Amino acid sequence: MTKYEIVNFKTLGDERGSLIAIEEGYNAPFDIKRVYYIFDTKKGVERGFHAHVNLKQMAIAVKGSCTFILDNGKKREKVKLTNPNQGLFIEGLIWREMKDFSSDCVLVVLASEHFDEHDYIRDYDIFLEEVKNAKN
Ligand code: TYD
Repeated sequence: MTKYEIVNFKTLGDERGSLIAIEEGYNAPFDIKRVYYIFDTKKGVERGFHAHVNLKQMAIAVKGSCTFILDNGKKREKVKLTNPNQGLFIEGLIWREMKDFSSDCVLVVLASEHFDEHDYIRDYDIFLEEVKNAKN
């Protein structure tokens, strides 16, 4: 399965403020094995430039904003994360690039697997080959 989609989280809260909960199978459609976050990103920096073979991820700009470029080998689309009540779910062979990080951006990523460099495709031409092979 290859897809990406924006997930709108239910915001719990009361007069004290807001709270969002993410659990395996609730707001995140996978078992969460790893969490990492990207912050203090310098002006003009672009990150990512890779795809994953098996990994499922949910990216949440819990503070600030950033833009994802998502590419399935056929079309490229821009998705901007601006709100902690939205997550970007990515599954399968999707090339991703991240840019336009606001200086206060904290991008939290929930991942379905432990870190594994072998799961990365960092060469765009190899990514396109993999997309082609996956369809055959
Ligand atoms: P990388 O995935 O290349 O960052 P990005 O795609 O956001 O530009 O990761 C940067 C470095 O951090 C790289 O040396 C691998 C390491 N890293 C970990 O050790 N564990 C992790 O969970 C992640 C995401 C990266």
